[in-house]
Amino acid sequence: MTERIADIRTEAEQAIAAAGDTEALENVRIQYLGRKAELPNLLRNVAELPPEERAATGKAANEARKALEQAIEQRTRQLAAVELDQRLERDRVDVTLPGDPPAQIGRLHLITQTQRELEDVFIGLGFNVAEGPEVETVYYNFDALNFDSTHPSRLLSDTFYVQPTPDIFDPNALLLRVHTSPVQIRAMEAHPPPLYVVMPGRTYRPDNDATHTPQFHQLEGLAVDTDITLGDLQGTLLAFARAIFGEEREVRMRPHFFPFTEPSVEVDVSCFNCTGGLTADGLRCAICKGEGWIEILGAGMVDPNVFESVREHGYDPERVQGFAFGMGIERIAMLKHGVPDLRMFYDNDVRLLEQFG
Ligand code: DAH
Repeated sequence: MTERIADIRTEAEQAIAAAGDTEALENVRIQYLGRKAELPNLLRNVAELPPEERAATGKAANEARKALEQAIEQRTRQLAAVELDQRLERDRVDVTLPGDPPAQIGRLHLITQTQRELEDVFIGLGFNVAEGPEVETVYYNFDALNFDSTHPSRLLSDTFYVQPTPDIFDPNALLLRVHTSPVQIRAMEAHPPPLYVVMPGRTYRPDNDATHTPQFHQLEGLAVDTDITLGDLQGTLLAFARAIFGEEREVRMRPHFFPFTEPSVEVDVSCFNCTGGLTADGLRCAICKGEGWIEILGAGMVDPNVFESVREHGYDPERVQGFAFGMGIERIAMLKHGVPDLRMFYDNDVRLLEQFG
């Protein structure tokens, strides 16, 4: 009987060694140590053996069982370790790989971006930002800004009035503001001097072509103090031009007329695309049309008649002086980014919008 036990043990040990994974090993265990297996049966029936065989058989069978249990345990550990390694290898995640590209959630419109960029420049120069209503009165849009009663902008053909049959000479008649300049008056009514403020926002005019849309955006500037000069205006606009169009830019002023400034100027920035109107290949520059200069805004020294409108708010024309300027935000964005037609900003074509930001 002990020989048979030794055979079983050898056979089982070989099977244990040969088991390639934990599942196969479990089958080996059932085969040799399971309830119906030979060795445990032997052990269970030791009592039925002739007395002289009992001790030796029992001992041998017991030892064999223990040895096999140990061998299985050891082999289980080995196989489990191998299987764990395999699983780790299979499931490996390279955490250094770039993640999935984030879902595109949209972007700010180029006009909003440009407006904010302009605000940032003027905030950096010490200006505050203010806003005013888009539906204005004739008083704020024209009268308080020293527009003559015969000024052509007041005509129904040049301004969107809100009432169907407006009395355009009524200071309280409502219109869509044609510029951001009325916010100058509102800002001065709200704050005594000194005042340094830029005023961005939507403006409206009955125009529609490659450089005009019925609705557009302006950024107005106003600085009022006791000792403001045209030199301050020039320095401020030079800093603005360099921040937006590049450090090499220069600005120049040409005489002009606006009702609310005296003297009034138009301001040009030196072209950022060429030198003196000619590109590097000697061609006429398409951006400045060969001029070397690009018109960017209107400006001037605040007309004393404008201060007269807000005299009771602390603006005595004898004591304060200031400069003002106004620019088209679309125009700045078009120039800076080479957008050829202003209407493209409002076509909502993502192929254009996606190119910015
Ligand atoms: N309001 C003018 C326009 O819409 C622009 C402008 C010119 C604003 C001169 C100013 C200024 O403040 O001083 O054409």
